[in-house]
Formats: sequence, structure tokens, C-alpha cells
Amino acid sequence: MRRRADDKANAMTEGSDSDVVWTNLHAATMSDGAQSYGEIRDAAIVVQSGRIAWIGPRRELPPAFRSLDTRDGKGGWMTPGLVDCHTHAVHAGSRSDEFEARLSGVTYEEIARRGGGILSTVRATRAATEPDLAAQSRARVERLMSGGVTTVEIKSGYGLSTESETKMLRVARRLGDELPVRVKTSFLGAHAVPPEFSGRADDYVALCIEEMLPAIVREGLADAVDAFCETIAFSPRQVEALFEAARAAGLAVKLHAEQLSDQGGAALVARYGGLSADHIEYLDEAGVAAMATAGTVGVLLPGAFYFLRETKVPPIAELRRHGVPMAVATDSNPGTSPMLSMTQAMNMACVLFRLTSQEALAGATINAARALGIAHETGSLEVGKAADMVLWDIARPADLSYAITPQQPTVRIVAGRVA
Ligand code: NIG
Ligand code: FE
Repeated sequence: MRRRADDKANAMTEGSDSDVVWTNLHAATMSDGAQSYGEIRDAAIVVQSGRIAWIGPRRELPPAFRSLDTRDGKGGWMTPGLVDCHTHAVHAGSRSDEFEARLSGVTYEEIARRGGGILSTVRATRAATEPDLAAQSRARVERLMSGGVTTVEIKSGYGLSTESETKMLRVARRLGDELPVRVKTSFLGAHAVPPEFSGRADDYVALCIEEMLPAIVREGLADAVDAFCETIAFSPRQVEALFEAARAAGLAVKLHAEQLSDQGGAALVARYGGLSADHIEYLDEAGVAAMATAGTVGVLLPGAFYFLRETKVPPIAELRRHGVPMAVATDSNPGTSPMLSMTQAMNMACVLFRLTSQEALAGATINAARALGIAHETGSLEVGKAADMVLWDIARPADLSYAITPQQPTVRIVAGRVA
């Protein structure tokens, strides 16, 4: 089932526009990871069959490509298309009522324990028809796209029944089929214990493993399995059972880990060779070291940190010291991060977590692609990769993370095609 995104990539590249060379622009290739922007001033980028066939300084453009049609970059900066590697963009309704309650002093955990929080979005998502859910979700994904996103990960986790989890994932897949954006999906059945399983979390995990996951695998609806490892959600032991099932089904794993407390979730997902550990405010150094050994990406979600008025910052210095790649994502969801702009997430990662602007852009491109297991395909401007690129009317790459205001590229290109 993981093959599906590659099939999509091939389908996207096959039908692409004619071969062109983009000139009159600078490129931030992000080919060095977070070390630099991989700047090429006065660059040329050759796109053939939806892929990058050549990139370098324009004066070095090989003669074979000089007769191609040109596209004018108008002096802007071309970056890799942004990759939002952690969203809950498919859901119904809003939770502004809970926001008001939190403003008057009620905590996120208290709201969850009273049956609100995730469960209030579960009620709305279960009640929504598939077309209604698709319409609400499509608007969010389109907003992300207008801010430069060319790949978006979308989780289930507000259905919590076989019927509603598959409904969410079908909507996510459909958005990927209908819109010019790559969609990767994650099955997050273990997001919260649904009311009908109240006090019976183990039974609910068994349902996730024995009924939901097989149904999802049968329909090819998920690229990865995610879970929420937390005192108010699932224990490491329950998550481990789910990861065993994911492994048996051949699906990658990732985890909401160490968001509100240290549960050892990052070390657990690393032990399963997981793609990413996400949130990680309460991550300790042993967890960082385990991630480094496994190559697990640390996904930073500054929108949730900001919105929950969290004060514990993820261990950025340790992540750097151990060489753990850091990604940045919106975590777009109604409860902890109602946000639909990747450049805004980059700004927050810089201001709140002290990332450098190079780290923020790497976090929104190449490292985010790694967190989805698709860095061979997208996330940097390199020969052979899909031509997923966005052109910005900016003077310097740091302008992307500098502005608080959400930013929009002037041109968005997916698999070589202006979209
Ligand atoms: O990523 N941490 C768990 N899940 C979401 C929040 C979900 C919600 O409150 O609706 C998150 O922050
Ligand atoms: Fe999340």
C-alpha cells in the first residue's frame, strides 16, 4: 500500500507539461539538509517529464537544454515545494467554544477528561456525511496549498470506528486524487478512546488491530500508522501492540510522543524504525539518542505549543548535537493548532524554538519529506526528483520565516506542472 504514493507520483509526472527551463531566478535547493540553503544565484532549472533534469548556475546550462522553452522566474527565489508532514486537516467542525473555556483557565487535559477535546471533534466527524467532510477538508487543504504546500500528510483519528476512520481516510485519498497536491495518509485510530469503549482502552486497541487496520490495509487507505502516546490517550504497551500489527501489515509507523509528558514514546517509535516522533516537548536525551540511531525525524509542531501556551520547549540543542533531522509542520487540527500556513509554522519554529531560518526551511522541505519516507522523490531541488517547486517574490530565503503573516508563492509547481 505504501507503493500508492509512488504510483501517484508517476501518474503525476507522466501527464506533465512540456519540458521547460526556469530562469531569471535564484534557487534554495535545500540539498544540504539544514546546513545551508544550497543557494544557487542566477539559476536555471530544467524540468523534463515532470522531474528536475538539470539545475545549476544559468551560465553553465548545457547546450542541449538551451533550445527549450523558458519560464520567467521574475527575479524571485525557487524553493522545494513545502511539505506539511503532520496534519489533521480532515475533520468536521470547530472548537472555538473550548478555546474560550481554556481562556478562562480550564486546561486541555481537563476538557479531554470531561469528554470534550478530541471526542467533540469525533462527534462532529462521525455525524458528517462523506461529501460534507470532503468539502470542509478540501477548503483546508486548498488553503495549505495556496501557502506553498505541494505535499500534505493527513491523519485519521476523529472517527474511532471502522466506518468513520475509513471515511476520513477515503476523503484524504480523494483530495489527493482531485487536487494538485501529494497526499500521504496515516491511520490514527489510537488517538483517543471512543465513548463506547470508555474504561476499556485495551479492547479498543484490539479493535484497531483486528478490525480497523485490516479494513484499511484492504482498501489501501493508509501509508503509515500513528498513535497518541500520553496519559490521556494510550500507553506505550498499547502503542507497541499497534506497532507490531503495523509492522506485520508492512506499514511505516510514527508517533505523537512526549507532547504533554515523557512516556518514552520517542524511544519506542525509534525501536520500530519509525519515520518520526512528533511534538517531543518532553523528550529526554535518551529518547534523542534513540531517534538518532534509528534515523527517526523529530517533527516540531510550534502551532500546538503556541496554542496550548506550552512553556517546555523541545530539546533543540540535543537534537542538533545528536544529528536528529528536525521537521516543522502545522499540526492543523481544531483542538490544538487551528493553523493553515507552513510559513507561519516556520516563523513560530524560529521565534518559539530558536530554529535558524535554514533549519526552518529544511524542516518544511527535505526533513519533512524524510518524515514521510519520500525524500527520494521530493523535498529538495535535485536532479532526478519530482519537480515540486514554489517560486516566491522575496529578496532572501530568510524572508520566508521572517514574516508572521502567512505567505503565498507566486507560482506553485507540482510534478513540473504549474498548479
Ligand atoms: O496533534 N496530540 C494529539 N492530537 C492532536 C490534537 C487533537 C485535538 O485536540 O483535536 C495534536 O495536537
Ligand atoms: Fe497531531
